[in-house]
Amino acid sequence: MSYSLLIVCYIAASALFILSLGGLSRQETATRGNTYGIIGMLIAIAVTAVGTSLHGSMNVTGSGYAVLAASIIPGALIGAVLAKRVAMTSMPELVAMLHSFVGLAAVLVGIASHIAPIEQLTGTEHTIHAIEVFVGVFVGAITFTGSIIAFLKLKGSIGGNPLTLPGRHVLNLAMVLGCVVLGYLFLTGSPDQSLTWLLVMTGIASVIGVHMVMAIGGADMPVVVSMLNSYSGWAAAAAGFMLSNDLLIITGALVGSSGAILSYIMCAAMNRSFISVILGGFGSDGGSAKGPAMAIEGEMTEIDADDTVELLRDAKSVVVVPGYGMAVAQAQHTVSDIAKLLRQRKVNFRFAIHPVAGRLPGHMNVLLAEANVPYDIVLEMDEINEDLPETDVVLVIGANDIVNPSAEDDPNSPIAGMPVLQVWKSKQVIIMKRGRGTGYAGVQNPLFFKDNSRMLFGDAKKTVDILMGKLRD
Ligand code: TAP
Repeated sequence: MSYSLLIVCYIAASALFILSLGGLSRQETATRGNTYGIIGMLIAIAVTAVGTSLHGSMNVTGSGYAVLAASIIPGALIGAVLAKRVAMTSMPELVAMLHSFVGLAAVLVGIASHIAPIEQLTGTEHTIHAIEVFVGVFVGAITFTGSIIAFLKLKGSIGGNPLTLPGRHVLNLAMVLGCVVLGYLFLTGSPDQSLTWLLVMTGIASVIGVHMVMAIGGADMPVVVSMLNSYSGWAAAAAGFMLSNDLLIITGALVGSSGAILSYIMCAAMNRSFISVILGGFGSDGGSAKGPAMAIEGEMTEIDADDTVELLRDAKSVVVVPGYGMAVAQAQHTVSDIAKLLRQRKVNFRFAIHPVAGRLPGHMNVLLAEANVPYDIVLEMDEINEDLPETDVVLVIGANDIVNPSAEDDPNSPIAGMPVLQVWKSKQVIIMKRGRGTGYAGVQNPLFFKDNSRMLFGDAKKTVDILMGKLRD
């Protein structure tokens, strides 16, 4: 394979990855985006394997390809089976595990390229390569151990409570400064000593990864997983520099920056500070409340299925707010049938999606797409909020924090400042949940006590099945 063909293939794969990210940003184009990504990755793997001989002094022989196949084929099979089997709610665990592999790969590539560099470099080139190795191994080690802790927390194998050691930020800073000193020694020391400094730094960075993620509350782990996704991208980019592989640099930068943007969006939607997430303090700082939360007055008023159906029959506009409870109950298919039926009856029926509804980014969008809900009736929070005052009935199905008015009204609420769906402004709100308990944030919801709110208690799936039956009659 000629070098020019290799470059053309790398450019094609990079373009496909960019198109893939573009496609994944919208539900309508997500499948196409996925296909672009798969094709890009197939090209990348094939061309890198075939074109490796073009690289410096490397000369891959037949037995080299046999070793490559022996590792890629079982890996691909295991990955395919795991991805097929994984439940939607366990996706963050799988993703955390995959990030740890990227981190470990960056560490191994870094150490290997220090022990046996592909090319013998001298002077400034050698220094730049040494910096690439050091930074790549540092980021890779943090990603590796941090992702393993995230995986264990999500799986429940270790407790979800944040580990808040006294002076933990000072401890983190001391470890980072220690790594900087080791970096200086690594760059200036003799070749024999430099491996020792690299390995000592790997140990310290691994401890930073463990400590950083241990300091984060288990329930806040999805944001951390997206942060680690970003770290894994930067680790891959660093590995790309070490191997002088342009495609790996581009891919790593795409993953790193898109992961950082996703983390930022999630933090904004949950009213958390991006910086405290990066520093590993997220979920343990106790919020910015300066006093007790506002007392809630009034009583919850219940409604039954018959009265709910009456309201739906009279309504000209209906909005459904799905939340974590709808996902747990697997009620999306019946909700989709209700949407279809009411739309046939000329009701203006829409879904309102909060950016952090559920427990994964895009959780609700995936569920609704799976239930064949048309994309054009699925609206984002910013698009639907201004229509809510004109809406006759809002059905809140297994959602809680994302419709909590205290986020706007009570500066002392733990969720103060979090953008929410303003369902209380509609004419009538029906809230479907099993009991009087709180949501993920553990705060009471004044929405349930408002004059225009009615509680329809029961499992979301059973309740929507009953509603559908009665609506059909
Ligand atoms: P939550 O606030 O957790 O509320 C879910 C509600 O569903 C609960 O009040 C629960 O009440 C109800 N429920 C549970 N199982 C049910 C069932 N089988 N049938 C009917 N109702 C059921 O969920 P949300 O409103 O979707 O908000 C998401 C929360 O998760 C936010 O606080 C967000 O910050 C957080 N979070 C989201 C993400 C992402 S990326 N989406 C990541 C991390 C954290 P009962 O127990 O009374 O039934």
